[in-house]
Amino acid sequence: MDRADIERRIGARSFARLLGDWRPPDGKGLAGALADRIRLLVLDGRLPLQTRLPAERELAAAVSVSRTTVATSYEALRSAGVLRSRRGAGSWTQLPAGPPDDSGPSPFSPLGDSPLYDLAHAALPAPREPLRAAATAAVQDLDALLAGHGYDLGGQPALRSAIADRYTARGLPTTPDQVLVTAGGVHAIHLALTVLAGPGDRVLVEHPTYPNALGAVAARGARPVPVPMAPGPGGASRWDLDLLTSAVRDAAPRLAYVIPDFQNPTGALLDDAGRAQLVDLARRTSTTLLVDETLADLTLDGPAAMPVATHGATDSPLVLSIGSASKTFWGGLRIGWIRTSAAMVRRLAAARAGVDLGGPVLEQLVVARLLAQHDSLTASRRCELVAARDHLLGSIARTFPGWRPSRPGGGLSLWVDLGRPVSSRLTGAARRHDVLLAAGPRFGLDGAFERYLRLPFTLRQNRMAEAVDRLAAAWTELDRPGTAVAGEPVAVA
Ligand SMILES: Cc1ncc(COP(=O)(O)O)c(C=O)c1O
Repeated sequence: MDRADIERRIGARSFARLLGDWRPPDGKGLAGALADRIRLLVLDGRLPLQTRLPAERELAAAVSVSRTTVATSYEALRSAGVLRSRRGAGSWTQLPAGPPDDSGPSPFSPLGDSPLYDLAHAALPAPREPLRAAATAAVQDLDALLAGHGYDLGGQPALRSAIADRYTARGLPTTPDQVLVTAGGVHAIHLALTVLAGPGDRVLVEHPTYPNALGAVAARGARPVPVPMAPGPGGASRWDLDLLTSAVRDAAPRLAYVIPDFQNPTGALLDDAGRAQLVDLARRTSTTLLVDETLADLTLDGPAAMPVATHGATDSPLVLSIGSASKTFWGGLRIGWIRTSAAMVRRLAAARAGVDLGGPVLEQLVVARLLAQHDSLTASRRCELVAARDHLLGSIARTFPGWRPSRPGGGLSLWVDLGRPVSSRLTGAARRHDVLLAAGPRFGLDGAFERYLRLPFTLRQNRMAEAVDRLAAAWTELDRPGTAVAGEPVAVA
């Protein structure tokens, strides 16, 4: 995203980059393909609503097509309700009023009414019985709090203590006043950016990275500084810490957002030496680290890594560690947190006061109860996930011999090199088979990662097998003329 997006107008060159590789392989049906790609960008939120598009002539020059081609695409988009134009003034993106014309389920309600295969959310169902038991116990715990007013900017003391104890057990001594409870990890990212970065400030991000973090950076009006993840052995990715160091030196970012534990989407794990190097870099350059450890509990092979903050002073405001109950327990709890210095927690708490005055009490009590059984709950989750990962890798090897998936040592998804820049087209085709995907470019800037697809292994085994069969059908349709692109879901987790 650049300043053009913030001002809700996009220049022809930026737009051409965002469009990525949209041309059909046979070069036919250019106007339709261009319209499909623009529609996809609007529906999945990569092109914000009310953005003024470049004039026909400018776009035609930027993407090397005739002006008639662009005019035909814009006309098709107007008919589909995705574009609104005023003569002489320009054309703006908008949401179509009715359901999309492909009569599939709405992309804005990912679960809809139909039995969708949701691979846009890398998230598991709740552990049913333990969660019900924790909720019942939490209702009892609530009694002791009902005489108070219930507002607490920092979070419920019982939960702050449980989170602090968990860090201490992982080797990072922590007191409850070093923990701020948030409404999930995404809220934590937004809050940290609100306090630590202003409009125009640079924020370093891994590339690819978690789409909602890119969204939070854009929403703050900050400028992302993407640092590419490097290719590792066998489809894996790794951090190039030399590159990261020079990016920090060159760009002097206000903040660096990193996901060292099973990086979303690549699944990479930063080793202890890399973690120490990162904290050292942050200290030498006074760059605050926003460390997203949302997936840290989901280790599938080998021992868990130590939290990044263990490599510095345990009460330093230079490292903000983000955690969440969403992947360890359940996304529906909407509980996350930030662990940092007590003084920084007070700053963050003051900043949230104008927005939500604190989180819901009952859910916090439920998570405090669940954290008391953390080890047994995560152990069973891991067994299921190891089987699910290996099953999906096996199905891919059999069904798509040309794909090169990563084999992550943890987390919830594979990052697959498709061998061709067709991720958005596959996503559109898969929608017709009731499979929801998040295309590779969701995880990057300027249309990057069109050759990649994130594939979560979070469905039950028989549903996953069916989803792979449906993907295989979609894959064979990619080059068929007239395969229009349907929308992606707005939400990706
Ligand atoms: C790296 C990362 N951070 C944050 C989140 C969001 O978590 P939450 O549901 O707690 O907002 C996710 C969820 O997918 C994630 O993968």
